[in-house]
Amino acid sequence: MDMWAGSVGLAAKLPLWFLLIVSATTGSVRAKIHHQKWEVAYQFKSPDCFKKLAITINGRTPGPTIVAEQGDTVVIDVKNALFTENLAIHWHGIRQIGTPWFDGTEGVTQCPVVPRDTFTYRFVVDRPGTYMYHAHYEMQRSAGLYGLIRVLPPTGVVEPFIYDYDRSIILNDWWHQSTYEQAVGLNSKNFTWVGEPQSLLINGRGKFNCSKAESGVRNATGGECSPYVLTVIPAKIYRLRIASIASLSALNFEIEGHNLTIVEADGHYVKPFVVKNLNIYSGETYSVLLKADQDPSRNYWAAVNVHDQRMGLQEDHELVDPWDTKKLETPLPFLYKFVRLEHRSFTSTLTDPPTSGDSRALSEPEGRLNFLVEDMDSWPGGVGLAAKLPLLFLFIVCAITGSVRAKIHYQKWEVAYQFKSPDCFKKLAITINGRTPGPTIIAEQGDTVVIDVENALLTENLAIHWHGIRQIGTPWFDGTEGVTQCPVVPGDTFTYRFVVDRPGTYMYHAHYEMQRSAGLYGLIRVLPPAGVVEPFIYDHDRSIILNDWWHQSTYEQAVGLNSKNFTWVGEPQSLLINGRGKFDCSKAGSGVCNATNPECSPYVLTVVPGKTYRLRIASIASLSALNFEVEGHNLTIVEADGHYVEPFVVKNLNIYSGETYSVLLKAEQDPSRNYWAAVNVVSRKPNTATGTAILNYHPNHPRRLPPTIPPTGPLWNDTKYRFDQSVAIRSHPDYIQSPPMSSDRMIVLLNTQNFIDGYVKWAINNVSLNLPHTPYLIALKERMLYAFDQKQAPETYDYKNYNIYEVQKNQNATTSTSIYRLVFNSTVDVILQNPNMMQNNTSETHPWHLHGHDFWVLGYGMGKFDPETDPKRYNLVDPIMKNTVALHPYGWTALRFQANNPGVWAFHCHIESHFFMGMGVVFEEGVDKLGKLPTAITGCGDSKNLKP
Ligand code: C2O
Ligand code: CU
Repeated sequence: MDMWAGSVGLAAKLPLWFLLIVSATTGSVRAKIHHQKWEVAYQFKSPDCFKKLAITINGRTPGPTIVAEQGDTVVIDVKNALFTENLAIHWHGIRQIGTPWFDGTEGVTQCPVVPRDTFTYRFVVDRPGTYMYHAHYEMQRSAGLYGLIRVLPPTGVVEPFIYDYDRSIILNDWWHQSTYEQAVGLNSKNFTWVGEPQSLLINGRGKFNCSKAESGVRNATGGECSPYVLTVIPAKIYRLRIASIASLSALNFEIEGHNLTIVEADGHYVKPFVVKNLNIYSGETYSVLLKADQDPSRNYWAAVNVHDQRMGLQEDHELVDPWDTKKLETPLPFLYKFVRLEHRSFTSTLTDPPTSGDSRALSEPEGRLNFLVEDMDSWPGGVGLAAKLPLLFLFIVCAITGSVRAKIHYQKWEVAYQFKSPDCFKKLAITINGRTPGPTIIAEQGDTVVIDVENALLTENLAIHWHGIRQIGTPWFDGTEGVTQCPVVPGDTFTYRFVVDRPGTYMYHAHYEMQRSAGLYGLIRVLPPAGVVEPFIYDHDRSIILNDWWHQSTYEQAVGLNSKNFTWVGEPQSLLINGRGKFDCSKAGSGVCNATNPECSPYVLTVVPGKTYRLRIASIASLSALNFEVEGHNLTIVEADGHYVEPFVVKNLNIYSGETYSVLLKAEQDPSRNYWAAVNVVSRKPNTATGTAILNYHPNHPRRLPPTIPPTGPLWNDTKYRFDQSVAIRSHPDYIQSPPMSSDRMIVLLNTQNFIDGYVKWAINNVSLNLPHTPYLIALKERMLYAFDQKQAPETYDYKNYNIYEVQKNQNATTSTSIYRLVFNSTVDVILQNPNMMQNNTSETHPWHLHGHDFWVLGYGMGKFDPETDPKRYNLVDPIMKNTVALHPYGWTALRFQANNPGVWAFHCHIESHFFMGMGVVFEEGVDKLGKLPTAITGCGDSKNLKP
């Protein structure tokens, strides 16, 4: 472990003997600087053969050993590449005389380092000895961020003991649960303790009994978990620098048949004494001398055991070879080796009796009339959502925009991880006040919404976007990390404050790397002011949020996408309706899936026969294009993204991530039974069961399952069906907002998948968006133009020669922070072009979402957009306005908007992984017209000094 670039050689110290004459001059005269660059990132590692995410330094855990001489200066540039998680590193045992601010103790000596930032630690190592470093931020150390520091006396200074070789041994305990899972367990009223470690590691290597783990995560023969081997030459003396970084365990270290002479403790020389084994507690370091004086014809165990303070050693050593000893045998007879011993008392995974695989075994006894409507909409402070019937009688009251009585809706949110089972499978989810989906925000047009968001995510930041709210005059509250704000760090409360200026159905969600997929989302319902009538009539108003759901954490997904060994999470495990789905528990390991958990009982929408329901349907899906259908009932589409639609009737609704629709449903079918509401994947080959909810006709029992099979939706690859439905959505004739007849600028955006430096990315005109570490809004307003690439992003692609039906010939592309700067108040056309992706005969659907504006949907086409002829076919008469629109396979979509909202606005594919992989662009307009930015949005990158 000791080979680290720039470190002082650690070869034989033998010559020291002969330097006894040279007296001890403290060698600060020739003090050196040791400069290292570290990138801290999550990677999949298998230290004990069980694969899990670990925090690595330059790809390693334990990290590099820092080797320096007394008086030297250590300078470490630590780049945080943990996506959404901060860090702080403590240099354990270094006294930081004169540099207390580099002690690395989050909350005590420093603020945490946010992702994309680089923090430079710089300190003097002023005493020889053995030290260590590790994360000092909540429970982050347990995730693998640790290593050793070895400080040598200056050349010529002799230590009070003699040895031939110097070796490092870091001891650790290791769990298979993530530190988030552990921390949430500890930090909940329902206290949950992770239990004893699964393994003990010696220099980052341990051995879990793989037969106790599910396949796929274990590999008993993996190179990463082959035992650490310390090779010794008979009769030589070894200094072993032993450190314990254990999270929990008191440890005991022993080498079979060899005594240890303790000579150093925490950097101080010890009056030497001999022990059979060494008790070492977390945070301690010792140097011991080991003489290779035993029978040299064999190897010996080095063993670490959990030491129970009350009982003495918990168990005897078990001299059973857990590996194939023959393989370890060296062909050189004069070498012998130490390998570690597996401790026998490792906890095993619990085996529960297999759970019933019948996902529908939910029916409760008939006859118990439990009129339970699981309405997501009951949220304190919301405007009542009862019958809209009285509106009928208010026709006479003419439409006065009620801004006179605008109200303020104030909510306090605490955002935290919790264990949730939305589809019966238990995993960590990000919740708002304990819920996912979060509360529905209900307000009237013109009202102000004020949300205090407290970040209680332990080590992870957040940012929340109010999707569909244009943020006119408040671009800094758009909640787009890297574009309009710095992320909100744990412990902080950020106040979003904005006006909802248009009635309609909107949503909110995390807008920070892949955080949205972890469950941070909800709906916004904006009602017209009292007295204003909408162009359709209904009795009751209900919300339906659709989502897709994975069992892998967003970190696991993000690491897979962001590695050269690109790994795709695959299709979702479940589809959720109002946060409820149904995974087939027989396919899950025991203990994590419970088919009878009430959290995953299906959403029930109870209707009264004869009444009309407005269903506000939103898709927050991370990946899937969805189709929503209610068995036996037609749906009349009346609203799209906050705009009234010329009503039209469909059997089922295609809805893409980021879109919202209102549909009317009349409860006019046979009232003696219940019906299925179903959501299915379209556009990608489905591998996910239909998501279901129950349409319950009062007074049937709400849990009574319909006697039928849920609708399976249209053919997944019927592009024409979906294309035609998109084209059919037009503005309601009484609400047409006419688009400008021409535009000032046309930007054509080719959507491709590319390779960049060995990574798979999505790119627009062959540029993959990389967010800068100073958010654009701050950089532009504060004239920090060095913060991002100043050249304009490419306006178009080579459409004359490009064949959209083939895999792109040159798959190279670049990443860039460049943006489009728009002339304020100009009219801009954007054409999205969808070609073949990197796979043959594949072109996916991309839902594109524009922040800060609504755009007119001027047209859709199949094939390649022709800038000469296609604009002649634009619908300039009654185009619908939207904020999200689908780009269909091998097709194009044309939009027009007015650059009239000062700010910086993201425009991106709403598929979470696609945006994460660079599928987006950024527009700037009129930033010079903005007043002073709120300091709350600053604090990252070059905006640190803007923080008061
Ligand atoms: Cu709903 Cu930028 O996203
Ligand atoms: Cu996409």
